Amino acid sequence: MNRPAWLRDAVFYEIYPSSFADSNGDGIGDINGIRQKLPYVKDLGCNALWLNPCFDSPFKDGGYDVRDYKLAAPRYGTNEDLYALFKEAHALGIRVLLDLVPGHTSEEHPWFIESGKPEKNEYSDRYVWTDFWIKGTPGHPYIAGETPRNGAYMLNFFKCQPALNYGWAKVTEDWQTPVTGKAARATRNAMADVMRFWLAHGCDGFRVDMANSLVKGDDDDKSYTCALWKGLLNEMRAEFPEAAFVAEWGWPEQALCLADFDMDFYLDHWDNGYHKLVRSDDAYLKGNDPAAFVKDYLKRYEASKEDGYISFITGNHDTPRISWYLTDDQLKLAYALLLTLPGVPFLYYGDEIGMRYLDYLPTKEGGYTRTGSRTPMQWAPEKNLGFSDADPGRLYLPVDPAPDAPTAAAQESDPGSLLNTVKAVLALRHRCPDLQADGSFQVLHAQAGDPLLIFRRGALTVALNPSNKPVKADVPGTPLFQIGSCEKGSLGPNSFIVS
Ligand code: NOJ
Ligand code: CA
Repeated sequence: MNRPAWLRDAVFYEIYPSSFADSNGDGIGDINGIRQKLPYVKDLGCNALWLNPCFDSPFKDGGYDVRDYKLAAPRYGTNEDLYALFKEAHALGIRVLLDLVPGHTSEEHPWFIESGKPEKNEYSDRYVWTDFWIKGTPGHPYIAGETPRNGAYMLNFFKCQPALNYGWAKVTEDWQTPVTGKAARATRNAMADVMRFWLAHGCDGFRVDMANSLVKGDDDDKSYTCALWKGLLNEMRAEFPEAAFVAEWGWPEQALCLADFDMDFYLDHWDNGYHKLVRSDDAYLKGNDPAAFVKDYLKRYEASKEDGYISFITGNHDTPRISWYLTDDQLKLAYALLLTLPGVPFLYYGDEIGMRYLDYLPTKEGGYTRTGSRTPMQWAPEKNLGFSDADPGRLYLPVDPAPDAPTAAAQESDPGSLLNTVKAVLALRHRCPDLQADGSFQVLHAQAGDPLLIFRRGALTVALNPSNKPVKADVPGTPLFQIGSCEKGSLGPNSFIVS
């Protein structure tokens, strides 16, 4: 497989910058806070980071509303701080991906302001506009009446996020521009320029937001959007051969095989394999059978394994935390499984200690129900759980007030903690190339009505039983690693074994 070699043993850690570590006591996380915590990431066993957007933004959608793609958000620090982060991370063997938001900008981006002017200018076609003030964009949300220009503009997500114009698959209206046209090309090149800027300053690639959303109209099979990415990514690779790109797409047959991304997230989509693995009422990791997960995953894995990596996630900034669904014992097995399946896994900050989803929190910066998964990292049982020196009332989001809120420091000294389980599984993964991204994968046992899952990774056998009853299992070889009790011929409740 022609993917950057470092991905084979990569394990990513996703950081929501506002909530990781506050280095200057203003109540909000920042880049220098992340720099200070690099040794923690390394010690955990992660060797790559994905930072959610850390660019200048009005933060109406947590930074996914970018006002200046080439400027660090002042609340997080400066570009120099970011460059220093890249350098220090590299010195520790950690790569850093930034978040690229190519589908839309903030409504405060200078391109959009120019675009909304009545006089024709360089940016008039940078966004998707109709040609009359009460004419909308059929099938897509749009806004009218906000700018002096006589037209309405399409949205890609929230009201604050006008859609950038990459052209239309099939042009059916005068105001639409073709995929092959000048306007689409200019937008694409502007995005290439942004990517080049950060790659040249030492970043190692991008997580790409809503990567499948670019070409509008009649691109149901995404062939136009895929072609666009393939060209753009390979243009970047020619200059930065080590760069890696992960798509927020959720369809590896498209994202990996056609769009040529290195990785694609296995996202929690209703009724898909990931949902059936972790989050549905009958999820495998809640002690049910793995059949629905295995069926969906195997199909996608087989179709895409020559082209790139499916990325399992413990969670992300958009979903309730995994601890909302699983008990502490189940979490250990969940991580053991997610971190020993093929592909390149992503751990969401705080999941390693079982941070909780604070479902009662009011929305912050466009978070809505996602806000409860974005609270400050819990470092130690001290003021603000070690996140910040600020007065608690000044924190950007409160820390988990529960008296038993987990912390990294407390778990470090407990050999049986979730944190130490994650460390042990990651150490095992780094030791055994068979368990890494490229190791072969074959399901040996997955049956309806039976919670036992056995699969092979290269020469190793992995077996798990997430139910609370023992199951009969013949696991060959001597155990290299185990959670729970495993005897000859049987796996105890909540157990996991690699042999
Ligand atoms: C997906 C991001 O993960 C999410 O946080 C954001 O709100 C939307 N894309 C819009 O950019
Ligand atoms: Ca700060």
